[in-house]
Amino acid sequence: MPDRVRVHPGHLSGRVLVPGDKSLSHRALILGALADAPVMVHGLAPSDDVAATAAALAGMGARLELTVTEATADRRAGLDGVVAGPLGEPADTLDCGNSGTALRLLAGVAAGIDGLTVLTGDASLRRRPIDRVAAPLRRMGAAVDGRAGGRLPPVAVRGGRLSAVRHESPVASAQVKSAVALAGLHADGATTIVSPARSRDHTERLLTYLGAEVERSSDDSREVVTVRPGPLRARPIAVPGDPSSAAFWMVAAAVAVDDDREAVELPGLCANPTRFGVVRTLQAMGADLEVLPEGETAGEPRATVRVRPARLTGTTVAGAAVVDALDELPVLAVAGALARGGLEVRDAAELRVKESDRLAAIAATLGALGVSVEERPDGFRVPGGERPSGGVVEAGGDHRVAMTAVVAATYATAPVEVRGFGCVATSYPSFLDDLAALGGRVEVLDGVP
Ligand code: S3P
Repeated sequence: MPDRVRVHPGHLSGRVLVPGDKSLSHRALILGALADAPVMVHGLAPSDDVAATAAALAGMGARLELTVTEATADRRAGLDGVVAGPLGEPADTLDCGNSGTALRLLAGVAAGIDGLTVLTGDASLRRRPIDRVAAPLRRMGAAVDGRAGGRLPPVAVRGGRLSAVRHESPVASAQVKSAVALAGLHADGATTIVSPARSRDHTERLLTYLGAEVERSSDDSREVVTVRPGPLRARPIAVPGDPSSAAFWMVAAAVAVDDDREAVELPGLCANPTRFGVVRTLQAMGADLEVLPEGETAGEPRATVRVRPARLTGTTVAGAAVVDALDELPVLAVAGALARGGLEVRDAAELRVKESDRLAAIAATLGALGVSVEERPDGFRVPGGERPSGGVVEAGGDHRVAMTAVVAATYATAPVEVRGFGCVATSYPSFLDDLAALGGRVEVLDGVP
């Protein structure tokens, strides 16, 4: 993966099979390793984050046989193979790399393992909070500690027998919900997680698919999930395409700046409603975006998304809608910058504790390209009606910021240089191939003074 690239403006069109969903890939491996027999997995994201989960599970004793399948016209590149347990006390610390999902979900798994598990990660991950999972796991009976008074990784979990609890989470976080649910599989009764809004529900869906007893309900003001202990029955898990990766191409195709009407088509996406906030937001802005259902895989709906350029208008993303579009808000800011009426995002303070402080990163990235951004404590506002200029953007170690800068560049009035681009391997190693397949023009500047 190059570290410095120069992206030239130009409309993108064509068809791309984005990599398998990252959230689901982590869960397929983790739940596969907890199942009662080996689980076949198919189409996992071949990304650094998922590799970190695979390596950590191997450190916990899992047997993984995964091979990379190359892309063809009809299938995406991905990891295929088998994962099997049982898991036990690791012989060494486990490095989760850049992945908050790996660290937090595995902390929940470790709570149910008799022994000590120490989880750590890269400099970005070691700045991200773990108290949100440590507190409920302690109440269940695990001993959990970390740096900075138990707030930051590395995190040490001494697991064993767990008691079922009812946990009221102050944040609507799928990682917290999943960590407590995974611990709940080993508890002595029904574990309930109450959250202030719904969040992505892949763990609940996959647990149900593997035969666990899960109850769920949600309304506008809260979500309640209950998990009962019990075995997971091995079944094959095929992972659909990642809507968070596809979001970059959706935005790159959605805004008309000239007369081009060529579409971008994105087949085989995970069309889970808790992940489709980006689709609903673009539609609210007047995007010409169709969702064509394709059935279900492993409990997840699948669809093709087809986007054609249109003149966009403004909208606001706030309240519960924020969680459904959480990882896509940086790239939606690009759509907002170009739309007449702009984009306002509120209630999104969680973006400050992602792979970077994404509210600051959105302001810095678009600001470097001459776009006005008003950064607020819990969101931002872009007034709209502005086209990015050329310029230089520093990704700051955040893969979604790097890819957002590339999408901004496709609409810019001059080429954009993106520095620190290498972090894109975290989620989307084939990003530049897909950009080229859609007609994007990019120069690699590594080694160029
Ligand atoms: C994820 C949940 C979200 C999201 C992250 C992946 C998951 O984080 O931002 O990229 O796979 O569960 P939170 O649940 O912590 O908000």
